[in-house]
Order: sequence, then structure tokens, then C-alpha cells
Amino acid sequence: MTQADASLSGQFAIGGDLTVNRLGFGAMRITGKGIWGEPADAEEAVRTLKRLPELGVDFIDTADSYGPEVSERLIGQVLAPYGKTVLATKAGLVRTGPDQWHQVGRPEYLRQEVHMSMRRLKVERIDLWQLHRIDSQVPASEQFDAIASFIKEGLIRHAGLSEVGVDEIKAAQKYFPVATVQNRYNLTNRASEAVLDYCEANSIGFIPWSPLAAGSLTQPGSAFDAIVKKYEATAGQIALAWTLKRSKVMLPIPGTGKAAHAEENVAAAAIKLSDEDFVTLDRLGRAAA
Ligand SMILES: NC(=O)c1ccc[n+]([C@@H]2O[C@H](COP(=O)([O-])OP(=O)(O)OC[C@H]3O[C@@H](n4cnc5c(N)ncnc54)[C@H](OP(=O)(O)O)[C@@H]3O)[C@@H](O)[C@H]2O)c1
Repeated sequence: MTQADASLSGQFAIGGDLTVNRLGFGAMRITGKGIWGEPADAEEAVRTLKRLPELGVDFIDTADSYGPEVSERLIGQVLAPYGKTVLATKAGLVRTGPDQWHQVGRPEYLRQEVHMSMRRLKVERIDLWQLHRIDSQVPASEQFDAIASFIKEGLIRHAGLSEVGVDEIKAAQKYFPVATVQNRYNLTNRASEAVLDYCEANSIGFIPWSPLAAGSLTQPGSAFDAIVKKYEATAGQIALAWTLKRSKVMLPIPGTGKAAHAEENVAAAAIKLSDEDFVTLDRLGRAAA
């Protein structure tokens, strides 16, 4: 396998002016079980983060709620100052325990979290801030108004949404330029195809979360095995290579707390699937969904 280099995945300019290598990193897995508390192996989490710039990864996704606080704090401690690395974070979900997530979209709370993320990440402005969920108990207009004011005040450079449909993106675009959309998407979960198509047509970055289907696509012995062997790759690498080829606005953020896994995932950037294999994987992925 070629030396792992995220730049081989190609580039995308977030919001038209923040250029990143398309294959990024998801920092949810550098926390404890249930995305709660400190990571079981803190040294390995630090090693993983330190490896990212060496691998050419310059796009890191996190959230105030990962830990909570733990992921952002570790990133700030290990990687700040960031040089050309672009930091994306989110707010809008609070935590009451392991694996528990609750929407809170009140403008005062979102504003507090923008400030807390800046503090933990050690930045004076957040490159990309995403509304983790549109809170169904708060008028969407109030949440979008708040985001527009964060941009206007220079607290955040670009804004994105997460787990939204096309109508919600269009509604938000009346308030602020939607730079990215982060929805669950991978080879076997294609529920967001229409959203992806809309993003591509409007030069909005599409950040597929769980691009490895939370790890299940890394397992050998699947319907994709013949193609995995043909490219002398791992199952996870083929899943990521397929995702990258699906759209030029695709910014996958595979998550891991292990440096070796980060390296393996980044090496997927070097795999160029043939058009024929792309179509076969597409068909097999839909069938396996
Ligand atoms: N917007 C949202 O609502 C939302 C929701 C969920 C996640 N996210 C974001 O999306 C990112 C990615 O999602 P995700 O972390 O849930 O799922 P994922 O990237 O599909 O898979 C992560 C899982 O796969 C394992 N893994 C990763 N690389 C591997 C490899 N090479 N070999 C074997 N196992 C491997 C990881 O375990 P190890 O740590 O053991 O490697 C982890 O359990 C998150 O980190 C987060 O930034 C966003």
C-alpha cells in the first residue's frame, strides 16, 4: 500500500475559501465508552491526534458534546496552534450520560457553546461551526438567526447543519450561507442520497458521518470481499475509496482512537477505484443496506 497521504483524496474549498484535503478525521472516538468521559487509552488518543498532520489530514471534526468537552480539549492540548488544519465543531446536543443525547437549540445556549468551543480548541474564531441538530422544540428561525449572528460577529467563519433534509437546508439558506451538511452516509446507508445531490449541485460540502458504518464496514468476509482483494486493500479502505469517488463535495471523517487505524484509513486516499468497480460496489452496498 502506498504511503498514507490524505492529499491524494483531492481538495474541497469549504464555503469557497477554506481548502482542505477531502479525507478528514472524526474525533468522536477519542473519548470514553458511550462517547462519555476520558478515553480508555489516553496515550493512544494523543498519538492518534499527533499522527494526523503527518498523514496530511487537515480537516478535523469534533463537537462540544463528545465527552462532553473531552474531544475538543484534547485537540486543543495536542494540536493547537493548528497551522493550516481546519477545525469543525458542533453544538446543539447535551449529554446526561453515556450514549444519551438531547437537543438544546436555544440561542443563548448555542452562543455559550460557541465560546466554550473556542476556549477548549484555543482558537479566536471557529473555522466551521455546525448545528448538531435542529432542536424541534425551538423555532428553527431562532436557531438560524443565532447562527447568522455568530458569522456576522466573526465568532465563526462558516456554518453547517447536521442530520437535515433538503427543505431544512433551503430554509437555513435564507438566513446564512450553508457551507456544509453532515448526515449519516456510507456504502450501505444511502438514506441521504437526495441531500448529497443537492449539496453537490450547490457546492456545499457533504460530510458523511459513520463512513465506516461505525466500524462494521471494516470487517472482512462481506459481499465486497472480491473487490477488496483485487485492490489488495482492507474492507474499510474500499468503503472509504467508494465514498470519496461518489462525489467531489464528499468529505469523509472516519473516526478512530487508534493511530494505526487512522493511518490505514488515510491510505484509502490512494485507492482509485475503476468506474466498473464503483458501480458494482454501489449495487452491492444498496443490496446490503
Ligand atoms: N453529526 C452527527 O450527528 C454525528 C454522529 C456520529 C458521528 N459523527 C462524526 O462522524 C465521525 C465518524 O463517525 P463514527 O466514528 O461514528 O463512525 P465510523 O467512522 O464509521 O467508524 C468508527 C468506528 O470504526 C472503528 N474503526 C475506525 N477505523 C478502523 C479501522 N481501520 N479498522 C478497524 N476499525 C476501525 C473505530 O474503532 P477504533 O477506535 O477502535 O478504531 C470506531 O469504533 C465521528 O468521529 C464524528 O466526528 C457525527
